Formats: sequence, structure tokens, C-alpha cells
Amino acid sequence: MKARYPRRTLLSDEVFYLTTPIYYVNDVPHLGNAYTTVAADFIARWQRLAGREVCFLTGTDEHGLKMARTAAAKGLEPKAWADQIVPRWIELWELLDISNDDFIRTTEERHERPVQTFWQALYDKGEVYLGTYEGLYCVGCEAFKTPDELVDGRCPLHGTEPEVVKEDNYFFPLSKYAERLIDLYEGNPRFVMPESRRNEVLGKVRQGLDDLSISRTTFDWGIPIPWDPGHVIYVWVDALQNYLNAAGFGTDDARFKRVWPADLHLVGKDILWFHAVIWPAMLMALDLPLPRTVFAHGFLQVGGEKMSKSTLTGISPHDLVPTFGSDGYRYYFLREISFGLDGSFSWESMVARYNSDLANDFGNLAARVLSMVGRYLGSEIPAPPGEAELADSDRRFIEAFGASFEAMERAVADIAPHEALQAAWSFVRRANAYVEEVAPWALAKDPGARRRLEVVLYVLADSLRLLALMIWAATPRAAAELWRRLGVESPIEACVFERDARWGLLPEGAGTSVGAPLFPRLLEEGAGAGPPAP
Ligand code: MSP
Repeated sequence: MKARYPRRTLLSDEVFYLTTPIYYVNDVPHLGNAYTTVAADFIARWQRLAGREVCFLTGTDEHGLKMARTAAAKGLEPKAWADQIVPRWIELWELLDISNDDFIRTTEERHERPVQTFWQALYDKGEVYLGTYEGLYCVGCEAFKTPDELVDGRCPLHGTEPEVVKEDNYFFPLSKYAERLIDLYEGNPRFVMPESRRNEVLGKVRQGLDDLSISRTTFDWGIPIPWDPGHVIYVWVDALQNYLNAAGFGTDDARFKRVWPADLHLVGKDILWFHAVIWPAMLMALDLPLPRTVFAHGFLQVGGEKMSKSTLTGISPHDLVPTFGSDGYRYYFLREISFGLDGSFSWESMVARYNSDLANDFGNLAARVLSMVGRYLGSEIPAPPGEAELADSDRRFIEAFGASFEAMERAVADIAPHEALQAAWSFVRRANAYVEEVAPWALAKDPGARRRLEVVLYVLADSLRLLALMIWAATPRAAAELWRRLGVESPIEACVFERDARWGLLPEGAGTSVGAPLFPRLLEEGAGAGPPAP
């Protein structure tokens, strides 16, 4: 009965170092940015329960032309503008229960100095040369564009015409790393995930690489090139290095050795090229270890009626959290969209998903079990059943947990949160079926079946405890509340799967409570639910 679920080493044995992109703070966060961060938080929390020491990093990207122009339009210095906007990002991460261990800003000393050290070292090695760049620059992307990347002369992502730029720049000889990059992708199928993205990157790199311009002279909002301060470092190469610097590169060698390399850089597909091509080449140039995986997720679009007038970038997560809660918000984006593919968000599908999975399947299960323990057993967890007291139906149900949990572990290793939650909810549905099968309300009417009633309610209450562990990474508030209602004293976040994700650990005598619905049902469309008025 007490099957153990040994801790799997998912990606590495050391600190599990996981990053989101650092966000441009020319504006406040929108749904797309929050998507990357919520997914990262799910993985970080799961890894913590898996017993890994986690370093989960997010932060802000504050240099570059886009920032300089936005600030100028507001009549502010770029740093002053960033100082106003950064708190809005931090607030949102708090609202969404993001559990990052660190938050790096590229205007911090711990970032700026090591960036200079890094490029000085490459310059000293002969890995930087001076040349002239003439090309088309998209300020929205903060990147040069080749004519074939444009649609009708415009950037497909920003809809704007790129600017013609001609200037003397320092260059990084990216082209000479093409062979080594190809070897990396070929020899290491997990370096770029999912596989379709890996093939895309591989195909493009096989066509050859251009050298990369790494400095700018036409504006000064950036980190000065140490040997030629008339140039500032190109914002993307400055930004990528945040991952190294937050791990202690150039400032804390002992920490750097423990934390680097990153296990996982989570990024959107629009910025995969920088992370899968430019970033490893930069690291190769300084002989630094490479990250283990760069995973590119898809893009969200807005669908449905209620929000059809907005573009996704116009929707603030603040419009959704008051209705769905932080847990409902997190669950929806993690479960609804296949991670790695594009997906669409709509208010209607969010209400439907919330009501069916959270309010009905999960919320009702928790309420039913806790209220039966209250009514039939005086809110006290009975003695755990011995092996001989279990019926076949109980054993089958207990085994179903093991299967769902292992499916979740595999899904997390594949960076597929939607599959992990499918597996958890298959167990939720199995638990609801088990309630019907063992019908505790019928046992309660038969005084001779008292111990049987205790056994099935113990099995059910313990399954809620296990379920709380399974869903904590996605819906931490509901999981922690369920944990308290089961009367478990130790905090859920102190658990580790290896010790706690096994049957029969709910302590005898724990006092339970029913409480308000964990996920109150939302009114259906047209009956009052809806986004705030524009
Ligand atoms: N500053 C750079 C990243 C530097 S990392 C060294 C940047 N910032 S961003 O604020 O523009 O975007 C950050 C993230 O938001 C990216 O992962 C991007 O894919 C994600 N999204 C922006 N719009 C999105 C959608 N519509 N859908 C899903 N994610 C999207 O890029």
C-alpha cells in the first residue's frame, strides 16, 4: 500500500536553474508576458516538491532604443521611466503568486559590470571586430531584419516599417560558430525544444549565419563598450547575459559554479533565435557551459466575443484575476493551451474551463469528501486502513493515483504543463467515480458498516491530500487551503514527493473542516459574468 514514488532526476543533479525572459519595461505587462511567467512558475514549484533546490529567475530588460524613445515621449530619463514601471511588473507577479527566487534588472550594477567584463574578455581574445553595418532595424524587436523577414516591407510582429540604419559597429563573428551550433543541436535533442522548433533552428543555421553587430553609436541608453565608450552594447546581447550574471558570473564564483548552467530557459517563439543561436555562440566564445534546454512556447491570440475588440497585448491580467482568482487564471493558461503550440484565449473558454474542471470536478470532490468526514466521522480522520481492510475497489483507486502521478512526472520532464494537468484531472475524475462506487452515504446508514465507512473516507481524504500535492504547482492557493482543511499541520510547501507522495500518510485524528467552496461556480455567459467594461 505504501508504494514509494522515487524522486526522478528530471534534468540535472545540481541546482535547478530556470529562467523567464527579462521583460521590456517600456510598458506594463500583458497576457502574453504573464503566460511565460506562469508556465515557469509551475515548473519551478513542481521541481521544489520534487526535492530540487530551485533558482527561478525573472527580471526586466531596461536598455535599448525602444526604452529610450518611450521614456523620451514621457519626458523622462529612461531609468526614471523604468523605476516607475518595474513595480507594476513586480506587483503582477505577486498577484499571480509567482515564486521567483530572484529578480534582475539590467540597470543594476551586478548586471552592467559583468557585461563589460564579458565583452572586454571577448575583445581581448580577438572575438570582436569593428565594421560598418547597413541594414533595416525594427525598434519593436530591437533587431535588424533581412528583407525576407518582412511582409510588405513591414515587421510581421509589430506592423511597422523598419528604419534604415548605417553605422560603425563592433561585430561578433557569429558566422564562425555555425558548425559548432549544428553539432550542438544534432548531438543534443533537448537543447532546443519542442522538436519542431529545433528543426526550424537547425534548418536556418545550416543556411549559414551572418556576423552579429553588438554595438550602437546613434544613442547612448545602454552599457558602454569598455574599450570604446562612444558605443553602447546592443540591447539583446546585454539582455541575454542576465542569466549568467544573476547566477553570480563575474561577482560570485562559488555561486556561479553551483548555479550555472541554466537547466531551462523558457521563452516565446518570437525570441527563440536569440536564445538558441546567439546565446550559445556567445557562451562558446568564452568557453562557458551551455544551458541544458531552451524551450519555446507558442503565441496566444484572443478569440471569442466578449473580448474580441481587444488585441492580446491590450488585455491586462488584472482584468481577469478578480473573476477567476490567481489559481483560476494560472490553471486556465496552463491547461487550455498545449505548451509549445499557439493557442487562443477567450473569456468564454475561461469560464467554461473554470466551471467544469475547478468548480465542478475538483471543488465538488473536495466539498463532498470533507462534508462526509464532517457529518459521518465528526470531522476527525480515522485510523489508516491496514492492507487486509482494503477491498479491490480501494486498491484499484489507490493504484490509479500512482499512474496519474507518474504521468505528471513524465509530462513535467517533457515541459508539457497541459499534459501534467490532464493527468491530475484524470485522477480527480477517478476519485469522483470512486465516491459513487463506494457510496459512503449508504454505508453511513448501516451501523454494522462503520469500519468500512471509515476506510473509504480515509482513502478519499488521503486522496485529497495527494491531489493537493499534485496541483500545488498549478493552483497553490487552493492546494494549501485544502491541505489546511484536511488538518495537516506541516506546510504543503515543505513537502517532497519522495517522502510525501505516497499513500496512508494523513495522520489519524487530524481535524477537518469544510469551508467555503474552493472555486465558487461562475455564472454562465450572459448571466452576469463578463470582463470589465472597456
Ligand atoms: N526583452 C526581451 C527578452 C529578453 S530575454 C534575454 C523581450 N521582452 S518582451 O517583454 O517583449 O517579451 C517577453 C516574453 O513575452 C517573450 O517570451 C514573448 O514570447 C512573450 N510574449 C509576448 N507576446 C506574446 C503573446 N502574444 N503570446 C505569448 N507570449 C508572448 O522579448
